[in-house]
Amino acid sequence: MKKVITYGTYDLLHQGHINILRRAKELGDYLIVGVTNDNFDRERGKLNVRNNVLERVEAVKATGYADKIIIEDYVGQKIDDIQKYGVDVFAIGSDWEGKFDYLKEYCDVVYLPRTEGISSTMLREEMTNDTNIGIIGCGRVANRFPSEASFVSSVNILGAYDADKDVMKAWKAKFPGHKCYDNADELISEADAVYIATPHLSHCDYIKKALKAKKHVLCETPMALNGQTARELYELAEKQGVILMEANKTAHCPAFNHLVSLIKSGVIGEVVDVEASLSKLWDDNMSLREFDPLQAGGSMYELGSYPLLPILKFCGLNYESLNFYSRMKDGVDMYTKGLLRYPHATCSFKVGLGVKTEGNLVISGTKGYAYVPAPWWKTDYFELRYEDQNDNKKFFYKWDGTGLRYEIQEFISCIINNRFSSARLRRRESIRMADIMQQFAERKNMFEI
Ligand code: CTP
Repeated sequence: MKKVITYGTYDLLHQGHINILRRAKELGDYLIVGVTNDNFDRERGKLNVRNNVLERVEAVKATGYADKIIIEDYVGQKIDDIQKYGVDVFAIGSDWEGKFDYLKEYCDVVYLPRTEGISSTMLREEMTNDTNIGIIGCGRVANRFPSEASFVSSVNILGAYDADKDVMKAWKAKFPGHKCYDNADELISEADAVYIATPHLSHCDYIKKALKAKKHVLCETPMALNGQTARELYELAEKQGVILMEANKTAHCPAFNHLVSLIKSGVIGEVVDVEASLSKLWDDNMSLREFDPLQAGGSMYELGSYPLLPILKFCGLNYESLNFYSRMKDGVDMYTKGLLRYPHATCSFKVGLGVKTEGNLVISGTKGYAYVPAPWWKTDYFELRYEDQNDNKKFFYKWDGTGLRYEIQEFISCIINNRFSSARLRRRESIRMADIMQQFAERKNMFEI
């Protein structure tokens, strides 16, 4: 029996896919089709795939050409598959001409003619109009937004607004193609969506303005500094039929997402402890907003939502107690340690703008633990470790650019699919983070050291 193998994403299955599967099948007696898994696609830069892997497998199955469907998970898998299944012919479209010649060592390689005039990319572009995003607040993070957005299809950066004229001038010099707005209202009225990266205390007003104008909102973390405000904002967004998302880049990065799925599926047993730390020594410039108590400066507001993410993800929202221990200077916390007690777990975090500490993440379970070295909030590597070292596993990922593209992609996907909550950072998780910020503001169970 002559076995043929072919691979693809097969998103929005189209005539080009059907033709290539038919031609591939005609090369032998048995056709194996490798369908890329969602994580693998994201890692290789395909950020906009519409159908998830199960839908894509179903679509390939429905063509009737595949005798076996497998999932492609990793680079190098093709060689393993060819040997494992005793494949005689590897077939792929002519757009890959020459790229798979290295497989000739293992089997015949055939490049089949590609169907002209159709592709998943074309279909995706036809299905959606561009989302015009306006940027409010042109500081450090916002400066990275336009180049990151260029990796996500269906996004167009319309222009920007900043209350500070000098900042606006610098923006204009850096991004001459963008329209610079004199006021936020005008930007909001012309945009389909806004990205808010202003100082924390102004988030709420801008979010409300945009939501009332029925515009989607992506707001930098911490989106809100009290739970009730966060709750009301999400309710308003849903009532207005638009998406509101908190921009926490760790929540959207591929490696962190895989870590979440692994731990939730029980690979380290029951989670009993989470320790997460993050420090960014910056106290040489005390005039920055980050150190101004009137602008919600300090370590907890600035950095707290990052370590709270794994804590709330792995241990849940219902902790029984939370204590803070803070070192204060001129009204802001230069360092805060938080301790959370759950019925069956305990968690701790350390955040510091004026104290340096090891920035790693350790999740301890009844069967093993996960270790994510610093900077874990930009996860590209982690390990699962066990009593028997032979069971240890290392996981490597790509962290592209400054990482904002993943949250922008999820934001656009929520808009297109009318999804009000993203599993990567649930609304309830974002609300609980705001509750915790509020507890800190009220100095409840907070002890100065
Ligand atoms: N293919 C084809 N003719 C087309 C489109 C795709 O023969 N018009 C083939 C590819 O060469 C490949 C297989 O179909 O062998 C799966 O390709 P895939 O990347 O899933 O499809 P594309 O439509 O090319 O997707 P994209 O636009 O996302 O790259």
